[in-house]
Amino acid sequence: MRTHYCGDLNATLIGDTVTVCGWVHRRRDHGGVIFLDLRDRHGVLQVVVDPDTVEAFATADRARSEWVMQITGLVRARPEGTVNADMATGEIELLGREVAVLNTADTPPFQLDEHAKVGEEVRLKHRYMDLRRPEMLSNLMLRSRVSTFVRNFLADHGFVDTETPILTRATPEGARDYLVPSRVHKGEFFALPQSPQLFKQLLMVAGLDRYFQIAKCFRDEDLRADRQPEFTQIDLEMSFVDEDAVMNLTEQMIRELFIKEMGVDLGVFPRMPYAEAMARFGSDKPDLRIPLELVDIKDLMAEVDFKVFREPATDPKGRVTVLKVPGGSTISRKEIDDYTKFVGQYGAKGLAWVKVNARADGLDGLQSPILKFMPESVIWALMDRVDAADGDILFFGADSERVVSDALGALRIKVGHDLNLLTHEWAPLWVVDFPMFEDAGDGQVAALHHPFTAPTVTAEVLKANPLAALSRAYDMVLNGTELGGGSIRIHDQRMQEAVFSVLNITPEEQREKFGFLLDALRYGAPPHGGLAFGLDRLVMLMLGAQSIRDVIAFPKTQSATCLLTDAPGAVSAEQLKEVGVRIRQEKAESM
Ligand code: AMO
Ligand code: AMP
Repeated sequence: MRTHYCGDLNATLIGDTVTVCGWVHRRRDHGGVIFLDLRDRHGVLQVVVDPDTVEAFATADRARSEWVMQITGLVRARPEGTVNADMATGEIELLGREVAVLNTADTPPFQLDEHAKVGEEVRLKHRYMDLRRPEMLSNLMLRSRVSTFVRNFLADHGFVDTETPILTRATPEGARDYLVPSRVHKGEFFALPQSPQLFKQLLMVAGLDRYFQIAKCFRDEDLRADRQPEFTQIDLEMSFVDEDAVMNLTEQMIRELFIKEMGVDLGVFPRMPYAEAMARFGSDKPDLRIPLELVDIKDLMAEVDFKVFREPATDPKGRVTVLKVPGGSTISRKEIDDYTKFVGQYGAKGLAWVKVNARADGLDGLQSPILKFMPESVIWALMDRVDAADGDILFFGADSERVVSDALGALRIKVGHDLNLLTHEWAPLWVVDFPMFEDAGDGQVAALHHPFTAPTVTAEVLKANPLAALSRAYDMVLNGTELGGGSIRIHDQRMQEAVFSVLNITPEEQREKFGFLLDALRYGAPPHGGLAFGLDRLVMLMLGAQSIRDVIAFPKTQSATCLLTDAPGAVSAEQLKEVGVRIRQEKAESM
């Protein structure tokens, strides 16, 4: 139906007769001449229709926003003074001679170039309209190029693209499962995979050696700007490898991708132990573009009068730390109050601060609501510890390790952005040496990654002191986002059982939930390891998009619904009966 895309016409085609198809982006009537901006996937083209082509003119005159047109005409240079340097097709225009309406359109729910004026709900409800926006189409096209690149890269490196089941058993990755009832097995449920983790390990036992899949994963968890209930992983696994082999290969893949698509060489990614990341940045995914660090002062605060600091300073699970912001003494009281509210979201009960106005003036040169509670010797030791200079502000966090790290880690990023302190555009790194487990309270521990990750110690040492054990896991972090994570796996059945038992999973439960894995580990499982990237997050970062929804064709809302199809929805009583499910009354009322 067409010879060219609208967006591809340029000065080299001047004098040619072409046919284009697309949507009416804008229609303007300029004193007897009709201008139609016609849009397709590749861009917008200005079409001019003169009254002397009577039929074409009448059709163009009728056309309205988002009608679908086919136009044949002559490519010509725009008259002098009307060249539009902002448009890829801005040097030329199409003199439309034959104009056909392929379809009409109702008045659009929003003008594409005024999408920001309507709420995101309107855009998601009419997603096919929202996706017509050049920005959205180009997001989807980048996403497609990224997955093509990844497929080619991995295939070139000997990885075998293998599908794994969607109807399966629970694969624990720390979220809740989406369950699927079964007509043939009433009262029993499939779970949708949180990741292909166990199947990819079984493929290693099978001898596939190198597996990859661009895999859909499903997690019923609380959503955030960079999380969806249904998302896509670039999932891979390799046999007979150590950490370096997996990290080097996947780092190479991301580096080459960025060179090709972004023209950016990310260089060699630094590696940082988890403990260092938490200590210096309060986060296991530090944003290294921001040149601010936390400095611990627990030892200095053990004997001060200020209870707020002294208590966590003398508690083995407490943390007392300082975030120094050079040049931050200009931050106003109002802004400090706002930051105090901000850290409150992370559980911090306050945000003590010191402004360093003039160190040379002694205590008179320091301004703070808390220094009166400390001996002068402690104050100067503190100033030396953080190397405080005139113009700095120091923010303090004192609470449990978790609250202080979360709160001041987040504050570090917020202040870094607010004061425009970012030093690089891209800051990748690997975080390594994660603990195997974290304290889940009540004497329980939880796997920090997943329970199939190999520890660095023997089963005996692991059982004796689980919280001290490190794992062979690694996360790739870019600009403060966890892009991917993986590990060397347990390939020894006894070690796997030891980890399950540390997690308080009884032998019966182990058999019931993971018997197939434990069996497979007994039949010659090779050493293996792998990693999974979040494809959505990767594309989101490459685009600098604010929301993960901007890189997914048909995303879910923050409350995990699809506004376009109105899913999830009620089903008929008959269907429920067929799968042996009855809805509990109180549930129905609360919905
Ligand atoms: P993990 O749970 O860390 O590891 O997931 C790997 C990567 O997937 C992305 N991701 C998400 N993206 C969007 N929405 C979500 N809800 C979401 N959850 C995770 C992140 C994350 O880094 N099986 C292991 C991998 C392995 O060990 O090989 C796993 O799933 O970018
Ligand atoms: P208060 O004694 O509660 O008036 O607090 C004195 C100062 O310490 C105020 O600036 C509070 O914001 C701050 N503050 C209180 N609790 C904490 C905490 N847990 N961590 C850091 N600062 C705190």
